[in-house]
Amino acid sequence: MKFFIDTANVGEIKQAAALGVLDGVTTNPSLVAKETGKFEDILRQICEIVDGPISAEVAAIDYEGMLREGRTLAALHKNIVVKVPCIKTGLQATKTFAEEGIGVNMTLVFSPTQALLAAKAGARFVSPFIGRLDDISEDGMNLIEQIVGIYDNYAFETEVLVASVRHPLHVVQAALIGADVCTMPFNVIDKLIQHPLTDLGLAKFLADWEKVKNR
Ligand code: G3P
Repeated sequence: MKFFIDTANVGEIKQAAALGVLDGVTTNPSLVAKETGKFEDILRQICEIVDGPISAEVAAIDYEGMLREGRTLAALHKNIVVKVPCIKTGLQATKTFAEEGIGVNMTLVFSPTQALLAAKAGARFVSPFIGRLDDISEDGMNLIEQIVGIYDNYAFETEVLVASVRHPLHVVQAALIGADVCTMPFNVIDKLIQHPLTDLGLAKFLADWEKVKNR
């Protein structure tokens, strides 16, 4: 499973990249709004830190506008993946981008039919938002299971990018289902390695080593 970080914060991206297990980055307008500086400058900095897919979202919701913005974003760096919302114009733009060799991450996906359409249009990634489904008492992970099953049935190459991840259990469940990618906020990545028994065990080993090291 590939690990992406879901943030536009360069400091967090640097820390996650330093762990050596980061495969890519996803951003969205809300995440960019939390940072200072121009979007393009933030993207350029991110591309220097991580050598993997970097999702950058268009703000336009009309077809021509999406193409204009997406082409500009894609021209910034070879690793930029254009993120487009799962609406009719987004589907049309995805098809065009795919024909032009521009990778698309279809975002704001909440149903298996939307995911099926994203794959048919040629999206490189599909982003089902599982946490937001959980928030309205729907099982977000059930959607991941459905999409992975559908894509397997037809050998679609679109990668299932689990988004709106809120805690490590989401990561475990997504990995068990076989999703291709999990994008996580920094705090979730940070929690993945933590275990109280590891800390207790290490403290004991270090204390015992103090007793023997000067023998
Ligand atoms: O990047 C899209 C997605 O991961 C957003 O997550 O927590 O705002 O639902 P969240």
